[in-house]
Amino acid sequence: MTLKIPNSSHPHKTIIGESPQLRQAVDLAIRIAKSSTMTTLITGESGTGKELFAKLIHETGADADKPFIDINCGAIPINLLESELFGYEKGAFTGADQNKRGLFELAGGGTIFLDEIGNTTNGIQMKLLKAVENKKFRRLNGTMEINISGRIIAATNVNLYEEVRQGRFREDFYHRLNVGHVQIPPLRERSGDALVLAMHFVKLFAAENENHTLGLTAAAESLIANYHWPGNIRQLRNAIERAILVYAPVYIDAEHLILEPQPEFVRRNGTGGNGRSASKTQLHFNPIEIPNEGIALETLERDIILSTIQKAGGNLSKASRLLKINRGKLRYRIEKLNISKEDIFLLLNER
Ligand SMILES: Nc1ncnc2c1ncn2[C@@H]1O[C@H](COP(=O)(O)OP(=O)(O)OP(=O)(O)O)[C@@H](O)[C@H]1O
Ligand SMILES: [Mg+2]
Repeated sequence: MTLKIPNSSHPHKTIIGESPQLRQAVDLAIRIAKSSTMTTLITGESGTGKELFAKLIHETGADADKPFIDINCGAIPINLLESELFGYEKGAFTGADQNKRGLFELAGGGTIFLDEIGNTTNGIQMKLLKAVENKKFRRLNGTMEINISGRIIAATNVNLYEEVRQGRFREDFYHRLNVGHVQIPPLRERSGDALVLAMHFVKLFAAENENHTLGLTAAAESLIANYHWPGNIRQLRNAIERAILVYAPVYIDAEHLILEPQPEFVRRNGTGGNGRSASKTQLHFNPIEIPNEGIALETLERDIILSTIQKAGGNLSKASRLLKINRGKLRYRIEKLNISKEDIFLLLNER
């Protein structure tokens, strides 16, 4: 199946895949889009295509000509999120010297896409719940009620049900969002799709880079078909793009696909090459190339923290779990290393 998102001729806005698992998710999304403007929750692991599906629903619906406004709720500092969403009137807070429309207003009957909804606080969830339920809201410091006429889509890669069970996500809001629910399967559960997608990306990036790469060797095909793709389609796409840019091969081979360096590195050190077995001093991930002039440990620490926050989609609790420190310690380091909310916002909105 090659499904172009309506109104988008962009080659990166095509949903590719032939598996029944993907087909089912697409059919459901299209049914939701055509039937009404019901609030919809899209769930799936990172890189499975949640944003692509949100656009598909918007573009297939009756209000496709109206705006599609997306906001990464995990990336906006929580104290700014409310004013971003609902807008404010002059005097709402220090510095609010004029009225400002929020994203709900800017969506104007189109779609508002609340990405990373799992990373919001209880306070925001409560305000969103009220707005979604009543289909109206007020700007901060405003008295006038403003109607919401468009579609609301929320997405998350965290298990919201589990978050509800753990008391980290409001149950009432969860049920309110979960009216329509599209669950996007991970790539490893989409029979045959990894290879179809890989060939799609080969053609796409070879053409974009005016490169002569024609396809994949049998070894690369076997690796792609059997790999577990924790970063899903984004990871596959990046692996193919990197192979083409770095090696410019006629056929991409398994060794051009750099996947999960950790096991490879452990294997290399553990079994042979230099004959030494894995030792306690073994590195835990890809060795870092230290430049001749040296590098400040703080710079490395900053990079590691930023990469982890990016991997966690801006969710600091998740990032702290990945780094095996508590949230307080992560916050302390973020402050110590002068990582601003803006740095994080920009990082998460890199395209
Ligand atoms: N079925 C597909 N066919 C082609 N490209 C796809 C498909 N699904 C996803 N992609 C591409 O993979 C990348 C990741 O997709 P997207 O950003 O929609 O994922 P996501 O689920 O929102 O990820 P995250 O949880 O990290 O935000 C994008 O470049 C997107 O165009
Ligand atoms: Mg996304």
